Amino acid sequence: MTITLRPDTNELREIATLPTESALPRAARFLSDLVKDTGFRHAEILPVVGKAKNDQGWYVARQYDGEDDSYSLKIFVWPAGTGTRIHDHSSWGAYACAFGTVLEERYDRLDNGSLAEHARLKKAWQLRWSPEDGSSTVLPGDGGIHRVGNPGEGVAISVHLYGPRMAEIDGRDYDPSRDYVCDRRELRRAIKESARDHAREHETGEGRQKEAEIVRHVRVSDDRARAAEGALAEPQGPNGYAPFTELTQSAPRRESMALPK
Ligand SMILES: [Fe+2]
Repeated sequence: MTITLRPDTNELREIATLPTESALPRAARFLSDLVKDTGFRHAEILPVVGKAKNDQGWYVARQYDGEDDSYSLKIFVWPAGTGTRIHDHSSWGAYACAFGTVLEERYDRLDNGSLAEHARLKKAWQLRWSPEDGSSTVLPGDGGIHRVGNPGEGVAISVHLYGPRMAEIDGRDYDPSRDYVCDRRELRRAIKESARDHAREHETGEGRQKEAEIVRHVRVSDDRARAAEGALAEPQGPNGYAPFTELTQSAPRRESMALPK
């Protein structure tokens, strides 16, 4: 089956031009509506669910990047027991769960960032997000240190929108067990562009699927390389996902999440 992600690019382009404080509520509303849209669910979400059952790690199944990388819309697939490292982004971001339930942990940074490769984190809260719960938003950098995953038994899918990048790097990865932080390298541009060319050349779902596969492969290779260098510990737990820890603080109300503080 040919499946192409066809977002409302006018709306996305407009959101990407806004300052963070006005972009985030618009992005949150866009995603909350998108994940409830019947056409979108049938074309983009349900086919991915069927394919994801036997996958091991999480991945980006579909991706749509705006011109000049001013925004990026991605569909993330979370097979049971998978999740990201603790990380941040060098852009604002918003996401909404489209299928199943995803769990998000959010962290506060306690140090002032003056020491290289050092970051002290404290877990602030965790929340479960289902399609009817709206969108979660993150500010760039220290304002959005989080981990997203699916500790449940079934597949979960989420749709993410990222704004324009505000730094050279893609973001940072954290290892709170040793107060460590390091840059997350950008995907090698040449590889990314060749994947994009492939997608453009064919203008088909297969082309875009190929693009997503190439990008995924590069990300996994980069992750492994950094683990081999000792820069980041190998992930632990089933499917490389460290289990969530107990809550130490109560979570904020979801309604307050749509806007940056
Ligand atoms: Fe993230």
